Amino acid sequence: MKLELRGITKRFGALTANDHIDLVVTPGEIHCLLGENGAGKSTLMNVLYGLYRADEGEILLDDEVQRFSGPGDAMRAGIGMVHQHLMLVPVFTVAENVMLGHESTKAGGRLDLEAARARVREISGRFGFDVDPDARVEDLPVGVQQRVEIIKALSRNAGVLVFDEPTAVLTPQETDELMGIMRQLRDGGTAIVFITHKLREVREVADRITVIRLGKVVGEAEPTATNAELASLMVGRAVELTVDKAPAEPGADALVLDDVRVFDANGTAVVDGVSLTVRAGEILAIAGVQGNGQTELTEALFGLQARVSGSIVLDGRELTGRTPRQVLDAGAGFVPEDRQHDGLVPEFTIAENLMLDRADGEPFVKFGSLRLKQLAAFAEERLKRFDIRAQGIGTRVGRLSGGNQQKVVLARELSRDLRLFVAAQPTRGLDVGAIEFVYQQIVATRDAGVPVIVVSTELDEVAALADRIAVMYRGRVVGVVPADTPRDVLGLMMAGEAPQAVAA
Ligand SMILES: Nc1ncnc2c1ncn2[C@@H]1O[C@H](COP(=O)(O)OP(=O)(O)OP(=O)(O)O)[C@@H](O)[C@H]1O
Ligand SMILES: [Mg+2]
Repeated sequence: MKLELRGITKRFGALTANDHIDLVVTPGEIHCLLGENGAGKSTLMNVLYGLYRADEGEILLDDEVQRFSGPGDAMRAGIGMVHQHLMLVPVFTVAENVMLGHESTKAGGRLDLEAARARVREISGRFGFDVDPDARVEDLPVGVQQRVEIIKALSRNAGVLVFDEPTAVLTPQETDELMGIMRQLRDGGTAIVFITHKLREVREVADRITVIRLGKVVGEAEPTATNAELASLMVGRAVELTVDKAPAEPGADALVLDDVRVFDANGTAVVDGVSLTVRAGEILAIAGVQGNGQTELTEALFGLQARVSGSIVLDGRELTGRTPRQVLDAGAGFVPEDRQHDGLVPEFTIAENLMLDRADGEPFVKFGSLRLKQLAAFAEERLKRFDIRAQGIGTRVGRLSGGNQQKVVLARELSRDLRLFVAAQPTRGLDVGAIEFVYQQIVATRDAGVPVIVVSTELDEVAALADRIAVMYRGRVVGVVPADTPRDVLGLMMAGEAPQAVAA
């Protein structure tokens, strides 16, 4: 199906998120949309999907003007969408979510649920996704929920398919599978819009590339363009794609983990005897395929896991058994993996989110009342420094673009005097310019003498930041290796091979 957007304009109050955008996606084409955080990509797709009504402009499918008054209309017209922020019903099962919105719901729904189950199994088989049709969505990790969104979008045989940053929470193998499926669908005549910040993916699958900046189309790029060319088109300036970092000068042992175990509700050890030491002034990267205990380990550090054994000592003080509040008060900063759930309160403003962990003391609260001037000045400074794109500090965080939400978390966590900094997937969803900035901030934190843990599934990120690398597999650390360890060795370790075995 051919998709054409003509002169789409969408305003939110004084902000013009889409400014007369024209876009044509022909059948049999993968069209990448590139642009900075807050450029207006998701807004444009939400207009297409009937979630927002455009202030101006038209949507055409096969040259016919469409009028969508909601996503139901868009779906019926043949548009499928994988949203950047998950839109599933948490209390429903995977199969029920996939079934939702399908036209042919029969009385009782029983037969259709059977069909939906089969569909889930069939599509997850094709992708190598391991998704149980009967699992409740709220019990699934965010990465698996994303797979459910993909299954849902694929289950409708849409003529136009939109993928809004689907790969942010996928493993490299799953990403490759998804790109394979996208090519297959394209060859079958589907028009595909693909949004990603990962330039490698763009160059790999794009047939055409449109770049959006500040709500306007600023140009088209060829898939043969270099990373540097794409980056500068997006951001409007040259971007440093490598991190400038001096060798670490580590000090004393600061964080010492000894035989840490984390058990899930069934009593299974998801972190299984981890012992690690991080020194002041060094970055320890924890690499590994998603779901090998990294998330639970970082959560255990911050008192967010209920069943933890072993010891976690920071600067000589035991952290196990403490509440998240006490760990933060001990000087730890944390960028959680699932920022929407654990890092932010979407209904609160940017300013309120920036002071979340300090709502009960100086400098913002004195004698029980909020010192608004101080808070405003602080929030304004953070907004500027982290280049958070928003109307102002009073904007609700839920209204920010995905990447800008991530910047709010980083801006808050890096605004205190830290004795420990732990960042899980710190640049997930960020544009190349913002990644450059965040890397500089993490390295500066290290250079200030703070012990830093970066958990990342991206080997590029591990290579850019690490002073040492610990690789996790099935809840255990398979080895701690130097930062210059070759990628193929890391890859084998991520599949569970001990480093000695790999080297031999
Ligand atoms: N519902 C809303 N109300 C107010 N402003 C909004 C709303 N949705 C989006 N915006 C604003 O519109 C602008 C574009 O946001 P959008 O989410 O489209 O960006 P994006 O290009 O998808 O960015 P990212 O790469 O970070 O996902 C941002 O400034 C955002 O704050
Ligand atoms: Mg977006």
